[in-house]
Amino acid sequence: MKIGIFDSGIGGLNILANMIKFFPNYRYFYYADNKNIPYGTKDYEFIKQNVLIAMDYFNSVGVDCVILACNTVSTMLGDLIIKLYPFKVYKVTPDLSVLDNYERVALLATDNTINKIVGDSNSNLKQINKLQIVKTKELASLTEKVAPNFYYNYRYIRYITNGISTKTPIILGCTHYTFYQDYLESLGYKCFSEINYFKDNFCQEFCIKKFNPMNLTIKLTDRKKINRFFMIISQLL
Ligand code: DGL
Repeated sequence: MKIGIFDSGIGGLNILANMIKFFPNYRYFYYADNKNIPYGTKDYEFIKQNVLIAMDYFNSVGVDCVILACNTVSTMLGDLIIKLYPFKVYKVTPDLSVLDNYERVALLATDNTINKIVGDSNSNLKQINKLQIVKTKELASLTEKVAPNFYYNYRYIRYITNGISTKTPIILGCTHYTFYQDYLESLGYKCFSEINYFKDNFCQEFCIKKFNPMNLTIKLTDRKKINRFFMIISQLL
């Protein structure tokens, strides 16, 4: 099975690492458009042109499926990509079903993701009113900058979450923010992200840690950062 994983940068590595842990025999292609990060503040056409190049790459290597490990791309372009390509596409989007179970939920996501969610005419307004939307500004770029020393941004994380009560759970609606999930949980917050999916659905004891690096291809639009990607994966595995 050939799996493509896409993100604007390092955010999708958490998903890649979990996939490798539980499905070590698959063949992985990780594509990061790290030359153009952040996507969160760029316009639709620009993102679309660059994402379609990535999807054409996945098509050229014959993947069976692609995980859009980027909430911004999944919310803005997910449905279009599903229509255009022959492979199966999995979107990663903020899990708003959490709103059913809580009075108030905080959402940390990029500007583009927030605008799409709030502006979507299908949104249930009552539920949307339960959302405490938190501006994260340049957090994805800052995360990219300090990686793999994510603790450099802990002070900034405390700053942006300052107005969120620990009784309010947090949806991490950007894959870059999942690198702070453990830290936020240590501060007393309940967090929801795609990482929970792996924690909840797979038995951690049975994950296989041995992985043949030949089964992974990393394709970057800015090759200079390649070592950083390998360092993060080795930390996560
Ligand atoms: N990691 C991406 C996401 O999940 C976006 C980061 C960015 O490029 O702004 O939304």
